Order: sequence, then C-alpha cells, then structure tokens
Amino acid sequence: MDTTRKPHVVLGVTGGIAAYKACELLRLLQKGGAEVQVIMTRNACEFVNPLTFETLSGYPAITDTFDRPERWSVEHIALAKWADLFVIAPATANIMAKMASGIADDMLSTTVLATQAPVLIAPAMNSGMYLNPVTQRNMDDLRSLGVHFEDPSTGYLACGDTGVGKLAPVEAIAEHCFRLLHRCEDLAGLRVLVTAGPTREMLDPVRYISNRSSGKMGYAIAEAARDRGAEVVLLSGPVNLSTPSGVTLVPFTSTEDLLHAVLENAPGCDVIIQAAAPADYRPQAVAEQKIKKQGGEPFVLTMVENPDVAATIGRQKQPGQTFVGFAAETEKVLDHAAGKLLKKNLDLIVANDVTAPGAGFDVDTNIVTLISKDGQQALPLQSKRAVADAILDEVLRLRA
Ligand code: PMT
Repeated sequence: MDTTRKPHVVLGVTGGIAAYKACELLRLLQKGGAEVQVIMTRNACEFVNPLTFETLSGYPAITDTFDRPERWSVEHIALAKWADLFVIAPATANIMAKMASGIADDMLSTTVLATQAPVLIAPAMNSGMYLNPVTQRNMDDLRSLGVHFEDPSTGYLACGDTGVGKLAPVEAIAEHCFRLLHRCEDLAGLRVLVTAGPTREMLDPVRYISNRSSGKMGYAIAEAARDRGAEVVLLSGPVNLSTPSGVTLVPFTSTEDLLHAVLENAPGCDVIIQAAAPADYRPQAVAEQKIKKQGGEPFVLTMVENPDVAATIGRQKQPGQTFVGFAAETEKVLDHAAGKLLKKNLDLIVANDVTAPGAGFDVDTNIVTLISKDGQQALPLQSKRAVADAILDEVLRLRA
C-alpha cells in the first residue's frame, strides 16, 4: 500500500436492515484516516438513500443505476484497483453466495471479484439463513480463499428472533479494517509454531476423553501471524474449523501425538505458541473392544499422567527461540500462571480464567493477562483475533 497517501477503502453495502450502520462504519473509517468510496446493491438503496453515503464520503455512491453494463467494467475495474481494502458490511447471504460462486451480475459483485485488495466481510442476517449449511459452506469456501470475516454477534434481530446474525459492532469491524490496512510485515522472516485445540484420549475403539477447546484461540494466532508475514506451522487437535490459507497444518489426536509433532516441528522455529489444551492424563489401558456395561457395577477407570509437552520442549529451548504458553485456570489465575511461566521455562504466559463470561473455551472472545518475567499486562474482553495480535505484539517486544 502506498503509505504516502490515505488508505483507500471500498465499502460495499448490501440490502439488510443493518445497512444504516454502514454510515457509522464509514465515519469511523474516515476518523481513522481512510478515504472511503461506497458501492450499494439495488436492495441496499431500499434501506438507505445513496445521497447519505455521498454526503458522508464526498464521492458518488455507486449503485446499479447504469442500464449499460459495459460501463461497469470501466468504472469498477478502476475502483477495484483503487481499493487498498474492500469491506462489505452488512453482507447478506446473497452476496456471499455470489462471491463464493464467482457471480458478477451487479456493481458490487463485479468489483469485489476484480479486486486484488484484502476483502473483509461482516455478515448480518436472520439466524436461520446464517446457520443454513449452504451459507456456512459459502463462508468456509470464502475463508479458504483468504477472505477475512468479522463474525456476527448474537442478540435481538430485526425479524424479532434472538440468535446469531446481528451485524458485529461497527467499532470491531473498523478495528479489523485497520488491522488489515496496517497489516505490517513485522513477523516477516520468522517461523512460528502454534498449537491449537483439544486432545482425544481413547478409552476403547468408540469412546474418548476430551475437553471443550474449539481451537479458535490457536487458529486466530496462526491467522494473525500469517497476516503479519510469518511462516506458520499449525499443530491442530480435532476441531471444526477451516484450515487457514497459507498455513501448514499438522493434525494430532492425543497428547503423546502432540508431543511427537512438537518435537518434530519445533527445531528451526523462532516462536512457539502453545494454545492447545492437551490432556494431563490418559487411560492406563485402551480396551481393544467396546467396553460393555458391568451389570450395574461401577466402572472404575485408572488414568496415568501424560507428558507435559510445554515443559518437555521448554527444557530444550534453543537460543533465540521465544516460547509462549497459556494458563487455563478457574481460580488464583495469576498465581498459577506465574508458576507455569517458570516451571515450563516460558518467556510469556497468557493467563485466562476459563470460567469468566466471554473468556476461554469455544467463544469468539477472550479475556487474558499477558505475564512475562518483566511484568504483566491485563487485556479487556476482545475478539480472539485481537488477543492474538496483542500476544504477537508482546512476542516482538520480548524479542527486541
Ligand atoms: O480453543 P478455544 O476454544 O479457543 O479455547 C482457548 C483455550 C481456553 C483452550 C486457550 O485460551 C487456553 O487456555 N489454552 C491452554 C489450555 C491448557 O491446557 O492450559 P493449561 O493451564 O492446562 O496448560 C498450560 C500450558 O501447558 C498450555 O500452554 C498447554 O498447551 C500446555 N500443556 C498442558 C498440558 C500438557 N500435558 N502439555 C502441555 O504442553
């Protein structure tokens, strides 16, 4: 991006009741120093008058009024090239379906198909539409193509339902836009190993013991590191997340599998960030056949301790390597975390109270305190992506 001028943002607005919120998003982007041009779909014009966006942006709001499609290719290839970032907010299921299928039958879908700029989508729609497998598949396809998402919130929807599908707060969308606009290459040249997700310790061919980790925290760290220029290797337990594009994925199942994967991939890595939730114990024996009920007798399970992966590699830390761990606690969070910082020979530990609302397992946000040998920094509730960027900022500070 040419840093001698204001960053250019193309704001796509589609036909949802949240279209009016795009006005506030536009103002936030301008306040942050961006120049914004707006493309509205025909349906968006039913919710907000194009004149509103023209007045706010100082540019003509582009809508589907041209009756000669050939003009589109002139005006909108130009706009596709003008953009340093393309954000669509609110984004309907329809525009995401068009983008996932490469359809270009209106101004917005034509321009976003033509742009080389990063694309950020902020979906907003009825819960049923959002959770429809087709919509979910379209979003997964777009994610796999490197499209960024600011996921919708859960709350009261215009249709009267309460559920997921509410446009994310415009402040969060704007923050995400600036992260992408100012996406620096400050991790370029670094090889970052990230662990994410739960483990599964088998009981018998059918049953296993696991935990509530979804992998979201680790995947957010992998995506953030990738976006900041790092070479990323992501060791992942069994999760329901798409593999981030541009990241090398190595799957694991049990804690012992994770140990082997870390020992194999850690050498040569500059930064190792262990967000995974490995089981501390595994069944002493794995039954060869499915365990049958004991006729009403209690079923007693003997478990043995698993290796502590972080501590194991902490003993093998090479000069120049930065090790980051997490502490998932339910009480005395900072004390326990500080203890693990030392015990596992970590440079930084990310302490999170997994019982706090909005923190820990499976939610899209987290509340963490970053603890290093020279101090600690408590962060407020924020997206796991924002937490990931804060962790990487602290890693760079420690490595300076
Ligand atoms: O995946 P999400 O749904 O997004 O949830 C995120 C999270 C809650 C899993 C994440 O924020 C988190 O706290 N991860 C660490 C979970 C954990 O195992 O914490 P712990 O305090 O038990 O372990 C401390 C550190 O040692 C962790 O870095 C862990 O990866 C590591 N460890 C733990 C046990 C073990 N046998 N080997 C390890 O290496």
